[in-house]
Amino acid sequence: MPPEPSSPCAPQEQLKIVIVGHVDHGKSTFVGRLFHDTGSLPEGKYDQLVEVARRRGVPFEFANLMDGLQAERDQNITIDTAQIWFRTPRRQYVIIDAPGHKEFLKNMITGAANASAALLLIDAKEGVQEQSRRHGFLLSLMGIRQLAVLVNKMDLCGFDETVFRRIETEYRAFLARLGLNPSAFIPICAREGDGLVARSPRMPWYTGGNVIEALDAFEAPPRPVHLPLRFPIQDIYRFDHRRILAGRIESGALRAGDRLVFWPSGKSSAVNTIERWSAPSTLAASAGESVGITLAEQIFVERGQMATHEADAATVCREFSAKLFWMGREPLGIGRRVKLKLTTQEVDCEIRSIERVIDASTLEETSAGAKEIRRNDVAEIVIRARQPIALDAHAAIAETGRFVLVDRREVSGGGVVVAAQRASATELGPKSENLTWAKGEVLASERALRNGHQGAVLWLTGLSGSGKSTIAGLLERELFNRGIHAYRLDGDNLRYGLSADLGFSPEDRSENIRRAAEAGRLLADAGLVVISSLISPYRADRARVREIMKEGQVRFFEVYVRCPLEVCEARDPKKLYARARAGEIPHFTGISAPYEEPENAEITVRTDQQTPEESAANILDYLIQTGRLASVSYDI
Ligand code: ADX
Repeated sequence: MPPEPSSPCAPQEQLKIVIVGHVDHGKSTFVGRLFHDTGSLPEGKYDQLVEVARRRGVPFEFANLMDGLQAERDQNITIDTAQIWFRTPRRQYVIIDAPGHKEFLKNMITGAANASAALLLIDAKEGVQEQSRRHGFLLSLMGIRQLAVLVNKMDLCGFDETVFRRIETEYRAFLARLGLNPSAFIPICAREGDGLVARSPRMPWYTGGNVIEALDAFEAPPRPVHLPLRFPIQDIYRFDHRRILAGRIESGALRAGDRLVFWPSGKSSAVNTIERWSAPSTLAASAGESVGITLAEQIFVERGQMATHEADAATVCREFSAKLFWMGREPLGIGRRVKLKLTTQEVDCEIRSIERVIDASTLEETSAGAKEIRRNDVAEIVIRARQPIALDAHAAIAETGRFVLVDRREVSGGGVVVAAQRASATELGPKSENLTWAKGEVLASERALRNGHQGAVLWLTGLSGSGKSTIAGLLERELFNRGIHAYRLDGDNLRYGLSADLGFSPEDRSENIRRAAEAGRLLADAGLVVISSLISPYRADRARVREIMKEGQVRFFEVYVRCPLEVCEARDPKKLYARARAGEIPHFTGISAPYEEPENAEITVRTDQQTPEESAANILDYLIQTGRLASVSYDI
């Protein structure tokens, strides 16, 4: 009679393992047998399935046992729905289901499945196959160092020691090249139970331990509580005037009163309280816990930022080197734009360079100087993100050192951070911990009263030739005539001075727009109505502008100066479209670089249907008639 399975909630040690192997190498049979032999099946389940098979006149298969359990799990009947677990005398094991290497990698990288050890199955008859090697590679990539190799189906080769030794020698040598040293190589026959919970009498030549002994010899990894604090912000909730920043502590610990820095912005504040769901607040929380915190000083924090202590901060960078496993349908070429997800951060990025491409099954370098990474290749690359991100080398903190790449909404690759260069100050913007915004002696409201209007930023975005500058000029004149202190910040003009060092690559534009926004914010703080006219083609950049204004409490209106490309091109006031078409100007918006239309502009004017004067009048109406610039604050 097998022992009663204990409750999955029992407070005992638990280890997450992943079982990987070629599809036909007997994984389901192995898992079924393991559950049975460790007495981890729900009571009566085995007898019931044997009986079902007998009635149907088919032989009972252990592989079907797991299918049966899976079906019940899906209907949520007998066992825990989220995980399959079994127990040995030492502890509980949770099996992370990995139907294929793609799912395995996805699970591992998204942290859904943080396995601490792996069992790798090889079919004795088939020997080491391409997939066995690829699996080994992925384990090493993900930093899973605890590994036992099970050579299964020994019955099919007459329990022959030479077959086993040949596989062992070959695979050990392969794993050694990856820096992996399996703790055990065990010959088994999962179907018959040989080698699982006891030594098999049919393989007296094997003197090592059985599978359970190998499992129980794995070390449970310490919870990363002693590592530096990493607290990625997942959401921000507002409850009765308090803002609660919620997330999961990935590593380290957090105490009320701690001063935290939020990256990549570099803003800092102290922890006021630590809140838990359906539990009283506590004074401390540590790795693995999901908590909410409130801050002593209100600063602008949003999803995707990562809190750390001031000492031991994460690396904030735009560029980092990584090992990447690519499984996208199309090859990933240098310069191709994809989305990078790392903890709760999401930024656009591109492959800056490809150092090496490796075939994961042979470990051979497929092509030096490759320009693209094909499906199932592993590559050492340099990734450049559009915006600064906070991360760590995987070797230092695994949780914040792994990422996935999303191409057209599909997880298409995943990898680990090898090293990152801290970004320079100009790349990141002002963010030193020692800076605080010095509030002027004169309040914005006092200026507004004297001026008779608020400061504000009107942000005109649109294609080159859409009429932004003309409209901005008309607005400036009209506002001035009405006694409003207005100032035009023109993209071309900024590029003469403040942004003279920048070109038109996506990164340079991003920086150009950031500078324009910061300048606009200062001028608006000084009480001016700023009319900026920049193409600002990327949505993410404009979203950042909005944030900068929000943080500076500056009234902000995005104005989409809309005009079809054909019309702009026909106008071609500076003859730039013609030159761009001729290939003389790279990254030209609308021709060889995108323009991402605004989705939430406050005002849209159609300059193909209106004169610039009419457009300017529309904007003025919007601003003035509705009191949006009034000195006495109307809540807008
Ligand atoms: S932005 O993209 O960074 O917002 P910005 O508005 O400052 O661009 O500058 C656009 C002006 O630069 C255009 O009006 C045009 O005169 C000039 N220009 C030169 N090269 C380019 C280019 N590759 N794409 C767009 N505009 C360019």
